[in-house]
Amino acid sequence: MKKRNTHTKDEALVADWQGVKRIFISTEDDASKAALVKYMQQILFGLHEFLKQNVGITEEISLSDLSERFTETLISQNPEKKLASVIRDLIKDIAPNAVNIASPYFIGHMASAIPFFMVHLKTIITALNQNVVKLETSKVVSIVEKQVIAKIHRLIYKKSESFYKEHVQNSKTALGSFTEGGTTANITALWVARNAMLVPTQGCEGVEKEGIQAAYQAYDIERLVILVSRLGHYSLKKAGGLLGIGNQNIIAIDVDADNRIDIDHLLETIKDIKNNHKKTKILAVVGIAGTTETGTVDPLKKLGKICAENRIHFHVDAAWGGPTLMSEKYRHLLGGIELADSVTIDGHKQFYMPMSCGMVYFKNPEIMDAIAYHANYVNRPGSVDLGIKSLAGSREANSLILDSALKIMGTNGYALLIDHGIETARSFASEIERRNNFQLITPPELNILTYRICPTHLKEELSKNDPDQKTRINKRLNEINTTVQRIQREAGCSFVSRTILKPPAMPEHESVVLRCVLMNPMTNMTILKEILDEQEEIYMSCFN
Ligand SMILES: Cc1ncc(COP(=O)(O)O)c(C=O)c1O
Repeated sequence: MKKRNTHTKDEALVADWQGVKRIFISTEDDASKAALVKYMQQILFGLHEFLKQNVGITEEISLSDLSERFTETLISQNPEKKLASVIRDLIKDIAPNAVNIASPYFIGHMASAIPFFMVHLKTIITALNQNVVKLETSKVVSIVEKQVIAKIHRLIYKKSESFYKEHVQNSKTALGSFTEGGTTANITALWVARNAMLVPTQGCEGVEKEGIQAAYQAYDIERLVILVSRLGHYSLKKAGGLLGIGNQNIIAIDVDADNRIDIDHLLETIKDIKNNHKKTKILAVVGIAGTTETGTVDPLKKLGKICAENRIHFHVDAAWGGPTLMSEKYRHLLGGIELADSVTIDGHKQFYMPMSCGMVYFKNPEIMDAIAYHANYVNRPGSVDLGIKSLAGSREANSLILDSALKIMGTNGYALLIDHGIETARSFASEIERRNNFQLITPPELNILTYRICPTHLKEELSKNDPDQKTRINKRLNEINTTVQRIQREAGCSFVSRTILKPPAMPEHESVVLRCVLMNPMTNMTILKEILDEQEEIYMSCFN
């Protein structure tokens, strides 16, 4: 946008047609090319400098102070700033007050530094700006997407070479779909499962067309339920709400002492439904491969067998743990995932892709027909348009990022990251157990663990068989851990998250625990010891 008056200092800007034309990329114009490169450099190096200088997680400024700075609700008629100053503002004012999730001291959530090449790959898909909803706006990109979907499907299901030859570019079948994230992947899986169960029948043209009430009537059903351990992700409840099943019908099954779904409780529940609630049907059993809070993996083989015997859709939520399949050393932890009818995996978690990318896969290449939609102007029957079988409409070409990343890393490259996370988590757990002031609550199975501050004298008191005393001490520990986590977060040098669990040793007590996700390859034991030291210091200064 050009200056209204070059002599004025305030650089008042106006919107004009020439300026508008200039902001669209035209590669034949050298000046435009130079501007593009200059600003890309500014962004990449500016942000790089920011990450180097701001090793902290956040700046000290409080949220309420920040929100006072952002109260302007009127869109200015004239342009306010040039690109250069917008970029400068973003780097100087926004980035330092965002969260430095790339810091190796940020170990609280399922987010971390990403390989630098992801920025390049994201830039390419932005520059190409393909819309994979239909071939007419994506062409080869949709074909690449089908190929990468088949690659990940093969990682999960290990079907035969001839199976993949038949389906990799088959326009009639679908092995899965890219989604916005794990939430929409889970919703898609259960949407497919619902429609595949309540297909057209006598007197009803199926649930998708006639709705849940007509389908229930036609199938003589009063209630559909989904069974999942009580550590299931809350996106399953959203699916329950959206699909008309009702989120109260996502039934929480107990967990065993290792935080895995309690198989006996599951079997009892299935039996009870079958024997005593004839009009209740089980839509799906969900196994979790890497629970959000504890990182544990349900016994997928057993679940697969139970679902096959009872003819129930078996969905595995591997949003977190899925990429463990690339590690030769640890893929056995997900044994049985190949029995799943559907699987969720997130790209923006352990594939280290930029926000946001999820995926859902199906064992049966025809089952996604249950959610097919067509329109006259796109997604015509028989076309390869990927929008035919997807929850989203317009969609970016995230598949290009994943396909390229898989080429750059290979499964061995990703395995190094996965193995590092799991092994660092194990060493960290040993360090926690070695320290008197801490108590390991859930040891890591993958790369997530929980623990709490619990000094020796309180451990001793907890071990006495006095229920009132246990309740009192647990309450005290909850206060201690909530306070320490908050103070450490506000100090801004490191970050662990906190959640509430019922530890197997004290299932009747809701306990505040500190939760760590070890996925950043730069996080090492020196850093983890510093984080524990800081927590001990905060505890000593506040509670002693
Ligand atoms: C096990 C599991 N499933 C699903 C999700 C939802 O994923 P998203 O946040 O990508 O929607 C998460 C997110 O943490 C998760 O841990």
